[in-house]
Amino acid sequence: MKLACLISGYNNPVSIKDNVKREEKHVNLIPTKTKQQVKFFNNLAPPLAAAFLLFSPICATPVSIAQTIDIQRGATLFSQTCIGCHDAGGNIIQPGSTLFTKDLQRNGVDTEEEIYRVTYYGKGRMPGFGKECMPRGQCTFGARLEDEDIKILAEFVKLQADKGWPSIETEQK
Ligand code: HEC
Repeated sequence: MKLACLISGYNNPVSIKDNVKREEKHVNLIPTKTKQQVKFFNNLAPPLAAAFLLFSPICATPVSIAQTIDIQRGATLFSQTCIGCHDAGGNIIQPGSTLFTKDLQRNGVDTEEEIYRVTYYGKGRMPGFGKECMPRGQCTFGARLEDEDIKILAEFVKLQADKGWPSIETEQK
């Protein structure tokens, strides 16, 4: 027993030291590596920049496709959930609270965050659509929306307001 204790007592400090040593080595390695990488990138920078400029129109395409899909999704969600009261960005219940920029600004709802909040929790005679919308009386009796969908809706409403609510084709589900 004593021997075992001695051995383990002896072994432990060694292995810790060993670890520290290895870590030190590791730490020492990083700057050299970074330097090498920096050198590598410096050498490559001009051709990389050229390649980036050359390919940037192609690189930009996936982003705009993603954006188009979001707008499509926003338009679909809007036509499913909001159009009953807000057809073409108007407001059939409260004409002073349309989704056009001048009303949004006057009512302090002209940011994506505020549009998200109103859509999530509701306001006045507008029901909230968020999963955690409270109190119940302020929330829709229909299906609640996913947070992600409310985010897409807020982006969509803001974008449409900025453009003066042009009509957008929606893919009905
Ligand atoms: C039952 C009718 C109804 C539905 C459905 C509805 N709204 Fe509203 N909405 C209103 C009313 C009423 C107001 C005005 C609330 C107030 O200011 O007291 C309003 C206000 C808003 C505002 C603020 C507008 C402003 O100028 O102040 C936004 C943004 C908005 N709604 C977004 C949406 C979105 C997005 C949806 C769909 C998820 C939606 N609404 C669904 C009735 C509705």
